[in-house]
Amino acid sequence: MAKTKTTFFCQNCGTQYAKWLGQCKSCNEWNTIVEEVIQKEEKRKWKQTTTVKKASKALKINDISISAEDRISTENNELNRVLGGGLVRGSMLLLGGEPGIGKSTLLLQIALAIPKKVLYVSGEESQSQIKMRAERLQTGNTNCLILTETNTQHIFRAIEEIQPDVLVIDSIQTLHTDYIEASPGSISQIRETTAELIKYAKETSTPVLLIGHITKDGAIAGPKILEHMVDVVLQFEGDRNHTYRILRANKNRFGSTAELGIYEMQSFGLREVDNPSEILISQKEDDLSGTAIAATLEGMRPLMIEVQALVSTAVYGTPQRSATGYDTKRLNMLLAVLEKRAGFRLGAKDVFLNIAGGIRVDDPAIDLAVISAILSSNDDDAIPQDFCFAAEIGLAGEIRPVNRVEQRILEAEKLGFHKIFVSKFNKIGSAKFKIKIVKVTKVEDIYANLFA
Ligand code: TYD
Ligand code: MG
Repeated sequence: MAKTKTTFFCQNCGTQYAKWLGQCKSCNEWNTIVEEVIQKEEKRKWKQTTTVKKASKALKINDISISAEDRISTENNELNRVLGGGLVRGSMLLLGGEPGIGKSTLLLQIALAIPKKVLYVSGEESQSQIKMRAERLQTGNTNCLILTETNTQHIFRAIEEIQPDVLVIDSIQTLHTDYIEASPGSISQIRETTAELIKYAKETSTPVLLIGHITKDGAIAGPKILEHMVDVVLQFEGDRNHTYRILRANKNRFGSTAELGIYEMQSFGLREVDNPSEILISQKEDDLSGTAIAATLEGMRPLMIEVQALVSTAVYGTPQRSATGYDTKRLNMLLAVLEKRAGFRLGAKDVFLNIAGGIRVDDPAIDLAVISAILSSNDDDAIPQDFCFAAEIGLAGEIRPVNRVEQRILEAEKLGFHKIFVSKFNKIGSAKFKIKIVKVTKVEDIYANLFA
């Protein structure tokens, strides 16, 4: 029996070393050298009885059949939407997110909801801790088995006995395989254990859901290759101090990455939010200056969100500009446009911008709502609550059209708005809308319309 051999490689340039070094001598990068297995003690197996694998045969594309059974519904509409219809058999899913955001809660909830035999393996919490969490979730699937284990060889032994339909691993950073010396969470351990799990998933057509920790700058901890190895990468995000959570697909081999799911963290777990617009707009009695509603799209879903701005005279010499949930660079650009193209004096003002509900928006169609909120706060003149906006602003101060404007208008109408401001260049079909559509071309137009 051959002994396991390991060696060290630089992750950056691939140079091989006999021992670990802090800095690669060849490319001078620090902390890029990791241990890798080059030969194993025995063939890595996830089960004892491996049959000789037949070489796969090429098939005509028309002869390949896809059965409806290829997707397992998660019994969770938001997750199904993000996945593009459910879990694909034999696929690997990686769920990343900040600590405490609710990754374990989400996957435990899914594990308890799927009417299949689910094995939930946790390396982070004890069985009784998971049971306590499950009690709070109040969903009763007796087909869910809980295992506390971090060694993959032991996990595979349990799998062989249980033969689960779905496997959940919390988290990949806690696993280790006997074949590598490195400690759990190190790059080579993550790579090896993921490779073992992928082999298991593909050979048995079992979907595997992995939880992954993220690093300080928001990337999934471990080698970038991890994201290439898995089929689906989901990101669970939100502000820990707010109750809303957003589930996005960063990569999806079986569906679109444009979809997103919205949840609310409650005392009994995560609640699916079917109508997000209603919750993202703050409730208030009087018209307040500095707020404007934008009709945005997140994926295929229209979403009405509230933009809040506060403009005040700068106390210190240099005015502050800060944005929460919105790109600060883009805010600076919009302020420059207001200053240069429309003559508003904001140079000596502090400007703060906030997207209500603790979510982050990248849709450029929110621009018009941003400048309207800024102008409203600057003049201390409120925008009526039943007005909303959907347009992008160009560098020349022109108001530009946005995609799928009709869908946005329809959502605004459905939620009872009476007026929507869009670009004059947006072609709106013959459909008859009850809501009043105001078409604008320049930043000055919007000012004249709202405050003059
Ligand atoms: P958790 O799933 O442990 O986060 P992660 O696995 O991403 O680190 O979620 C922890 C947070 O969720 C914790 O701060 C408490 C909160 N929570 C609720 O508000 N309600 C609940 O029913 C549960 C189970 C958790
Ligand atoms: Mg957790």
